[in-house]
Amino acid sequence: MRTEQPKTIYLKDYKAPDYLIDETHLTFELHDDHTLVHAQLVMRRNPDAGTGLPPLVLDGQELELLSIKLDDAELSTGDYQLTEAHLTVQPGAASFVLDTSARIHPETNTALEGLYKSGKMFCTQCEAEGFRKITWYLDRPDVMSRFTTSLSADKQQYPILLSNGNPIASGEDEDGRHWATWEDPFKKPAYLFALVAGDLWCIEDTFTRASGKDVTLRIYVEPENIDKCQHAMNSLKKSMKWDEEVYGREYDLDIFMIVAVNDFNMGAMENKGLNIFNSSCVLAKAETATDAAHQRVEAVVAHEYFHNWTGNRVTCRDWFQLSLKEGFTVYRDAGFSADMNSATVKRIEDVAYLRTHQFAEDGGPMAHPVRPASFMEISNFYTLTVYEKGSEVVGMIRTLLGAEGFRKGSDLFFERHDGQAVTCDDFVKAMEDANGVDLTQFKRWYSQAGTPRLAVTEAFSEAEGTYSLTFRQSCPPTPESAEKLPFVIPVELGLLNAEGQDIPLQLKGEAEPGATSRVLSVTEAEQTFTFTGVKAKPLPSLLRGFSAPVKLSFPYNRDQLMFLMQHDSDGFNRWDAGQQLSVQVLQELIGQHQAGQPLNVDTRLITAFGTLLEDDSLDQAMVAEMLSLPGEAYLMELSEVADVEAIHAARDFTRQRIADELFDALLARYTASREVSRATPYEASAEHFARRSLQNIALSYLMLSGHDAVLQATLEQYEHCDNMTERLAALAVLVNSPFEAERAKALEAFAEHFKDNPLVMDQWFSVQAGSPLPGGLERVKALMQHPAFSVRNPNKVRALIGAFAGQNHINFHALDGSGYRFLADLVIELNALNPQIASRQLTPLTRWRKFGEARQALMKGELERIKASGSLSSDVFEVVSKSLA
Ligand code: TRP
Ligand code: ZN
Repeated sequence: MRTEQPKTIYLKDYKAPDYLIDETHLTFELHDDHTLVHAQLVMRRNPDAGTGLPPLVLDGQELELLSIKLDDAELSTGDYQLTEAHLTVQPGAASFVLDTSARIHPETNTALEGLYKSGKMFCTQCEAEGFRKITWYLDRPDVMSRFTTSLSADKQQYPILLSNGNPIASGEDEDGRHWATWEDPFKKPAYLFALVAGDLWCIEDTFTRASGKDVTLRIYVEPENIDKCQHAMNSLKKSMKWDEEVYGREYDLDIFMIVAVNDFNMGAMENKGLNIFNSSCVLAKAETATDAAHQRVEAVVAHEYFHNWTGNRVTCRDWFQLSLKEGFTVYRDAGFSADMNSATVKRIEDVAYLRTHQFAEDGGPMAHPVRPASFMEISNFYTLTVYEKGSEVVGMIRTLLGAEGFRKGSDLFFERHDGQAVTCDDFVKAMEDANGVDLTQFKRWYSQAGTPRLAVTEAFSEAEGTYSLTFRQSCPPTPESAEKLPFVIPVELGLLNAEGQDIPLQLKGEAEPGATSRVLSVTEAEQTFTFTGVKAKPLPSLLRGFSAPVKLSFPYNRDQLMFLMQHDSDGFNRWDAGQQLSVQVLQELIGQHQAGQPLNVDTRLITAFGTLLEDDSLDQAMVAEMLSLPGEAYLMELSEVADVEAIHAARDFTRQRIADELFDALLARYTASREVSRATPYEASAEHFARRSLQNIALSYLMLSGHDAVLQATLEQYEHCDNMTERLAALAVLVNSPFEAERAKALEAFAEHFKDNPLVMDQWFSVQAGSPLPGGLERVKALMQHPAFSVRNPNKVRALIGAFAGQNHINFHALDGSGYRFLADLVIELNALNPQIASRQLTPLTRWRKFGEARQALMKGELERIKASGSLSSDVFEVVSKSLA
C-alpha cells in the first residue's frame, strides 16, 4: 500500500507528454507463482512538447525490476531512479528503444486491477491506471501506441491465449508450454490493452459488415457456461447492425472477442478487439437469468461494442475527459436499448435511476461536474454523473440540434478526430461546426456540478387569449463551487385542452401555430414564454421525455396530475404525473406518521391505479411501471431530512391499501398473465418482458393480502415456471411474506438447486439482503458464512452487502448504528483487498447529511473510524476525507 498521502491532480495542470511510444512489444511468461513481463518500447521525443531531452518518467507500481536496457545497453543502478510509483531514465537521443523486464504476481492480485487471476484463468483490467501494474509505461490515454503481444503458458491449463488485434503466430515449446503472438494494427492507449489465458470454450458466429466484409465473433467462457452465450451473441450482432444504421459506424478488425470472467470490478471493459466482461453481463438463459439480466446483457454488450468508436478510435486526452467516451457511449447504448425494446419504458427506468442515484450524488460530498476539474483517485470518478448525467448532456445536445443536426455533428466528430485523444470541448466543437451554432453557454453542463432547480409558474389571460409560463432556474452550491451561472435547459412541452388533447403551439411573435409539442430553450435565470391564440386555460405538460436533468416543479393539484396520467400524449410524462401524484400522497403520509396521526391514503391515488388496471389498451410494461410507487431511496432524496421510519411506514401502508382496495383487479391481471406465461415458452422479447413485469408486480401486491389463495398461486408460479424471472419474483414475494415455513423451504430448495451457479446465487443473496423484515443485519451476517459467499468476489459483495446497505434502508439505518458499524468494518477489510470495491461500498455512509442528528453522528463516527484505521488506499482515502470535510 501507498506510504504518502494521495495528491490532488488538476485538469488545469494538463501538459502534453514529453515522449511518445510508437511501438510497444510485450512478452508475458505466465507461471503459477509469478509472471515475467518484458516490454520493449520504441520511443521518441514529442515534437509538440518543447525542446531538449527532459528525463523520461515512466509509471510503474508493484513491479520487481529484473533488467533495464536503453538502446540495447544494460543500465546499472546509478543510471536510473526507481520509486514506488516511477522509473526515471535519461534518454541520450530524441529517438530510442527502452527494454525492461519485471516480475509480477497476478496470482496474489486481489485488487483485480492490472494482470490478475479470476478462478483458473489469467485476465487483465487496465482502465484507468492499471497498466502501470503490468510494466513501466507512460500510462496516460494521450500516449497511443501500436502493440504486439506474445504470451506463453502451460498448454494444458491454458489452452487459449488471447490479446488485442489479430493472431499472427503461435507455437509449442518442449516443456508442455505454448505461446501465441497477437498484433493490434490500431494505435491505442495502454488502458485498452488486454490479455487472457485459460481453459475456455467459445461460441462463434460471423457478422457481415455493410461494406461486405465478414467479422468473426467469438464469446469465450468457462466450459460450464457454454449454454448461456447465445443471448449475448444475438445482442452483439444487433449492436453491430444498429451502429452501422444509426451512426454509420462499421467495425474495423476481422475478429471481435468477448471473454466472461467471474471476478470483475465493474460491468465490462472495451479493450480493443478483446472485450472482457463480468460474467453477469454476458451469461443469460431463461432458466438462470431474469428479464432484467437479459436486458442488462444486451445493453452492456452494446455499450462495450459502441466504445470501439466512442472511446477507442476516438479516445480521451486525459481522464478528466472520461465523459467524452462514457457519457456518449451510455447515450448510444440507451438509444439502442430503446430501439430494441420499449422506448418509453427504457426512458422511465433511466430517469428513475438518474433521479434517485445521480441526483443524490450531485447533492453529496463527492458531487463533481460531468468533466471533473480535479481528483485524487480516478477510479472514484466512474460515477453516475460522468456516465448517466454525461449521457443526458449528449441527449440535450441532440434535443437542441435535432436528429439530423446531431448526426452531422457526430459524423464530423469521427471524421475529424479518428485516431486522436481528444476533449469534451472537441466533441462540442464538432457539434457546433457541423450545425453553425454556438454552444458556449451550454458547456456549463460540463463544468458546473449540481442538479438545477426549475420552478415554473403560469399566467392565463382570457381577454388576450395568452398563456404564459415563467421559468426560474437556480442551482444549489456544491463542494467545488458556490456560485452557478444559468444553464441552457431545453424544455420540451405541450399544452393540453380540457379534452386532454394537445393544442397547436404559437409563441408570441410567431405568424401561425405550429407543432403541438416543442422545445423551449431556457437560458436565463428567469424567463417567460407567452403563447397566443389560447382560448381556454390549458394544462401544461412540461419537460416531456425528461428533456433535461433538472428538478422541475409546477404547482399541479392532484386532479390535474390524474388528468395528465390519463391523457398526456407523452408516455413518459403520463408516468411522471403518476409519480408526482404518488409523491404528494406519500409525503402527506410521512407528515401524518411524524405527527403521530393515523395514516390516511388519498383515495384519488387508488382510483388512478384502479383506472390503470382496468385499461386494457395500455402497454403492460407501462402499467407495471405506473403501478410501482416511488422507491424509498427516491423519497429520501426528495426529503430535506430523510425520516427512514416514516418513509418506510408511509410506503408500506400505501402498498397495503392498494392491495386491499384493488385486490380483484390485481388478481384478474395476475391470473390472465400467468395463464399466458404457463402456456408460452420463455422468450427474451419486449412483449414477454412486459407481461411478466405486470404479472410480477401484481403478485407482489396480492401477497400483501395474506390470502391463502395467493400463497398457493405464488407456490404454483415458483414451482412450475420455465424461467428465472417468474421463479425469482415468486421467491422474493415469499421472502417478504409472513409465511415462514414456505419461505424457508423455498430458499433452501433454491440454494440446493442452484448452488453451482454463482450468478443465480447472487440473486438468492440479494433477495434476502433486501428484505425489510426485522433482523436484516443478522441475516446478512449469517449469509456471509454461506459457502457460496466470498468477500473477494465483487459480485458477491454487491449482491449481499451492496443490496443490504443500498436497498434495505429500514434495516441498514437501524438507530443503534449496527448497520453502519457493519459496513465500516467491511470497508476496512476490503480496503486492503480491493480498494475500488471498498470505495464503492462506502457510498451509503457518505450520505450522512441527509439524516437526523442521531444518525449523522453515528455515520460520521464510522467514517472517522475508517479514516483512522491505518494505511488507506487512495480510493478510500479520497471518499472518506471528502465526506468528512
Ligand atoms: N470503460 C468501462 C466501461 O465500459 C468501465 C470499467 C471497466 C472500469 N472496468 C473498470 C473503470 C475498472 C474503472 C475501473 O464503462
Ligand atoms: Zn463505458
